[in-house]
This record gives sequence, C-alpha cells and structure tokens, in this order.
Amino acid sequence: MNKNFYITTPIYYPSGNPHMGHAYSSIIADIFARFKRLEGYNVLFLTGTDEHGLKIQREAEKNQKSPKVFCDELSEKFKELTKILNLSNDDFIRTTEDRHYKSVKDIWDRLVKSGDIYLDKYSGWYSVSDEAYYDEDEIEDSNGKKISKTSGSTVDWVEEESYFFKLSAWSKKLLKHYKENKDFILPVSRKNEVVKFVEKGLKDLSVSRTSFSWGIPVPKNKKHVIYVWLDALTNYISALNFPDTTKEKYKNFWPADIHIIGKDILRFHAIYWPAFLLAAKLPLPKKIFGHGWILSDDKKMSKSLGNILDPIEIIDNYGVDQLRYYLVKEVSLGNDGSISMENLKNCINNDLANNYGNLCQRVFSFIKKNCSNKIPKAKKLKDVDLQLLNSLKNNVPTLIKLMNSQNLNEYIKLVVSYSFEANKYFNDLEPWSVKKNDPERMHTILFTISEQIKNISILLNSIIPVSTGKVLKTMNIKKENILISEIDNLNCFDHDKKLKELDILFNKIEK
Ligand code: MSP
Repeated sequence: MNKNFYITTPIYYPSGNPHMGHAYSSIIADIFARFKRLEGYNVLFLTGTDEHGLKIQREAEKNQKSPKVFCDELSEKFKELTKILNLSNDDFIRTTEDRHYKSVKDIWDRLVKSGDIYLDKYSGWYSVSDEAYYDEDEIEDSNGKKISKTSGSTVDWVEEESYFFKLSAWSKKLLKHYKENKDFILPVSRKNEVVKFVEKGLKDLSVSRTSFSWGIPVPKNKKHVIYVWLDALTNYISALNFPDTTKEKYKNFWPADIHIIGKDILRFHAIYWPAFLLAAKLPLPKKIFGHGWILSDDKKMSKSLGNILDPIEIIDNYGVDQLRYYLVKEVSLGNDGSISMENLKNCINNDLANNYGNLCQRVFSFIKKNCSNKIPKAKKLKDVDLQLLNSLKNNVPTLIKLMNSQNLNEYIKLVVSYSFEANKYFNDLEPWSVKKNDPERMHTILFTISEQIKNISILLNSIIPVSTGKVLKTMNIKKENILISEIDNLNCFDHDKKLKELDILFNKIEK
C-alpha cells in the first residue's frame, strides 16, 4: 500500500495582509494533512506565496517598493500566519525562489518541445485582480466599467504579442479524464460546472505577457514573462525538486493526492493545470477539491462593508483551536457559509467548553480526588461500558471514509455525538454513588470514560490539535501513540503514573 500523501493549499498572493479566506483554505488542508498522519501516512503538506504578475507589480509600485522587497515583507506575514494557525506544513514555497524558476523553465521547454506553444497576438479582456483572461460573454457593464460576471473585478482591454498554449487541443482528453476519474474534481456540483465549460470548447490560452516585467522570463525571448498562472501552478512540482524526477521526493509524492483550493480558482486547477501536465507528459493530480466562500453575516467580506473578520484578531481573543473548530463546524465544506461573532461564541460555549472541555475536566478532577490522580484499571467491562466504547470503535472505518471524502461536517457531527454520549454515560452511571459500596465498579467506569476521552481526543486531534494534545499529554499518552489505530488499544494508559495538570481547555465566553 502506498503510504505517502501529498496535499497542497493554493499559494497566496502577497498583495495585502492575509485574511479569513486564506486562513480557511489553509486550515482545511491542515486538517486533512494531520488526519493522514494519524492514519500513519508519510505526509507532505505544502503552502506558500504566489509572487509574480501585474497585480503584485502594481501593489509594489503603490507602496513605492521594488516587487521583490514588497513580496519579501508580505510573504513573511503569510509565513507567520502558518504558525498562528498552527499549520503542520512541511514546506513553504515562494515563486521567487530559484528552485521554482528552474521548474517553470523546464515546464515551458516541455510545452515548446511537445509543439503546444506558438507565438501570436492576444487581444481581449484581462482582469489584473484575478490575473485572468475573460471572453466577451463572461463580462458585463457596471457603472460604465466592464467587469467579470463571476468575480466582479474590473477588466481591461489588452492587445499585445503573446505566446499561446494550444489549450483547444486538449478538450477531449480533459473530458475523458473527468469521466474516467470520478473524484478528480470535487464536489460534484463544481465538477459539472467545469465539464460544461470544457464541453463548450476551449480556446487557446495566452501564456506570456510583454507589457510588464515582473515574472519569470520566457526562455530564449526575454521580452516576454510567463503568464502568472502557468508560473504559479507549477509550484506544486517545484517543491518536489522538479525537473529532477528521478529523486525520492518527486517519486514519492507526485502525483499529488489532493489540491485544496477555493471555488474561485477552479478553472485554473481543473482545466489549465491538467492540460499543461498532459502536454508536458506528466501525471495529473488525483483530486482537486474546491471549497466555497466564507461570508461574513451573509455577505462577501469587503473593506467597504466593514465586515472583514480578521483571523489573527479572533485567535488572539478566543484561541486558535476555537477558530479552526468553528470554521469547519459552521461552514459546510464545498458550499458558501456565513460566519459571525455571535455564532462563534455559541459554538465555543456549546461544543467546546460545555461538551468536550467539560467532559475532560470533570473526569480528570474526579480521578484526582478519588483515585490518587491515576487512571484506574478496569476489572470487567459491563455491557453499558462496551456499548459506549464500541459505538465509537465500530464507526472508525466510517469516520475515516468521511474524512477521506472531505465530508468534514458529518465527521464532526459524529465525533461530537460521542462526546455528548460520554458526558451522558458519566452522569447516568454516577461513579460517585458506587464509590463506597463498589469501588471496583467505580474504577471500571473511570477507565471506560478515560478510554473514551482518549478516543475522542484522537479523533478531534486534526481539528483542534492544541487542546487535544493537552488532554492526551495529561493522560500520559506519548506523541507517537496519537494514531487512529490506538483507538483499538485498551492498554494505552500507564496506571501507575499520575495525571498531569490540565488547565482550563476552553474558557466560556460571556455574551
Ligand atoms: N495566487 C492564486 C492561487 C494560485 S494557486 C496555484 C490566488 N491567490 S489568493 O491570494 O487570491 O488566494 C486564493 C485562495 O484564498 C482562494 O482560492 C481561496 O482558497 C481562498 N479565499 C480567498 N477569499 C476567500 C473567502 N472569502 N472564503 C474562502 N476562501 C477564499 O488566487
């Protein structure tokens, strides 16, 4: 069985400070990356910044900085965000790095060699904000300006010499690939959009620009810089030391298992990227998952509406696990979803503080008071104990399937229900009332509930790594034992070792 797993986030434009949308893509990818590690996979998780193109050049000019200096400063902020969000990325790529230049030049040469590149003239609409070309039927008039119907960004008329990629030649092959690989584009609704678009027939794609210079020069024609999307998409293999396809890194991790992206950049990933790879005679990624938009109070976040939620501010006020949990619990992955401070507070109180947090805290303090602070051994598990443990254990294959099909919301619902059941078990079985007459029974109840806390903590670990890490540490579970397979292991605890101190896991939020 192939035990390697390669997952990526989009690489972000360092044209301004990172915001909630960026945080969302990254958190989702991190959850899947961590979960695969829990399954025992050797994971490579990549994120980074996309630093070329007119959009960045203009922002740099506005700030009176050279593009490179401007990118150095802002890329650093995105790097800081990976720490703040507690991402477990193994690499952070910048498209201004040498390793990336080498890789992009090689891709270009491959496309030239395969006969897919020709020189002509581009005339058409271009959005600098989206770094995208649009057809006449994709734009509309708005207050005397032309804008993209999908993104709403302004488009300008562009006429310049350009190299073209023969995208039109790849329509049939792409459609065949979509058909034969059901999971290539997910969710299915997004796949249908892509199929429809390709079925209309694809036009050749302009893949170089001459009217500005901030980009990777076209080999052998320095007048042109390579189109920023051809440049950016290649990052996924640059990080594997492409063009060296003979070494372990590339061999182990390409094709990527999943590219996590927002729905706004689906066309680039599901059409252009596979077409470039097909032309370059390289394997295609296995899956592209396009998530929806995060809306703030039902509206798209924007400076003018003043509804921008800053991930860093929320984390400073409430904690990183709290934000991670809330985003994936509240927003149905794949669809747009609205978030609000009000709901965030409710979610922290109900799901985290009152449910999982309360469960851990009350069980540990009971053990401290009544069992010299050591998890007791169980003599004989009764049906009611086994029922609790088995309902979770028997569902582990389902949970793994849910996670591997990016059904995060169902996954969370199920795990939260176990935490709820565990609280109920503790209330119903009242270990305090058997303490005197049947201490052995009390020990068994405490063992069972501790076991279930361990299991729930492992299942929540990829979503709220800080708090579950604390809980497992309190129980003296070693880091290397934080694996899905340990759910089946009833011998995890050292019964002679005292529990470590656990400070409050989640503060209740006053409203
Ligand atoms: N640089 C390109 C991606 C190149 S990938 C080879 C780009 N960058 S971006 O900075 O604009 O970030 C895009 C990603 O951020 C989106 O695809 C999406 O994943 C995420 N989001 C940005 N705003 C968002 C929301 N409001 N909601 C959810 N995610 C959105 O495009």
